[in-house]
Amino acid sequence: MRTPVIAGNWKMNKGPKEAAELILELKPLVEGAKATVVLCVPAVDLQSARQALRGSKIRLGAQNVHYMPSGAFTGELSAAMLREAGAEYVIIGHSERRQYFGETDETVNLRVKAAVAGGLVPIVCVGERKEQREAGYTDALVTYQTLIALTGLTPEEVKKVIVAYEPVWAIGTGLTATDEQANQTIRVIRDALSARYGKRVGNAVRIQYGGSMNPKNAKGLMAQPDIDGGLIGGASLKAADFAQVVHFDR
Ligand code: PGA
Repeated sequence: MRTPVIAGNWKMNKGPKEAAELILELKPLVEGAKATVVLCVPAVDLQSARQALRGSKIRLGAQNVHYMPSGAFTGELSAAMLREAGAEYVIIGHSERRQYFGETDETVNLRVKAAVAGGLVPIVCVGERKEQREAGYTDALVTYQTLIALTGLTPEEVKKVIVAYEPVWAIGTGLTATDEQANQTIRVIRDALSARYGKRVGNAVRIQYGGSMNPKNAKGLMAQPDIDGGLIGGASLKAADFAQVVHFDR
């Protein structure tokens, strides 16, 4: 059985002080959760978030990682730096990185390999734009994005990766994929992983849904057989909302 994983993606919101405040509010609300809970915070918040998280099972994550261990890469952070600051997870290839910062399937793959080698669990984001869905390319696209992102990992490494299926048209728009639509595309991703790495791996990889997931729709999405969690943007910035998503089973 796959343990569900609910991850907050704070994006470019909240500095170190506000991060600590939100975490102190959130901690008691998510106690006893069956899901693994992860907060992917801005990198400058990792230290204060780590302190605020003391005594909690909530895990910390970052929102990007560079693929080189060190060097002349102004503005970038290595896996080792993020680990030292307290991150255990890292979002890679978010559609905002692909759209605004020139991230490609190839750089996503480099970052995934560096994250795994550096002891971080990657949360690899894939998903189609509206016009791609309308043109009927969704299945081929998410298959390609997923397989390229994981190229070079061993099957054992792939098993530990988290994939987030995030239809771009659903991110921050209030539009969600229907429960069945989300599950169907996630099933396509799982089948692609099974075909490439074997059923044991395909059945082990946790695949999240992301895109306007909130307290109202979390239960329905999470009831789908192939959806193993959520990557939550907007609703992760309010403790009560995020806690409700975390406790989707209540
Ligand atoms: P949203 O963001 O929940 O605000 O749609 C999700 C994401 O971008 O990961």
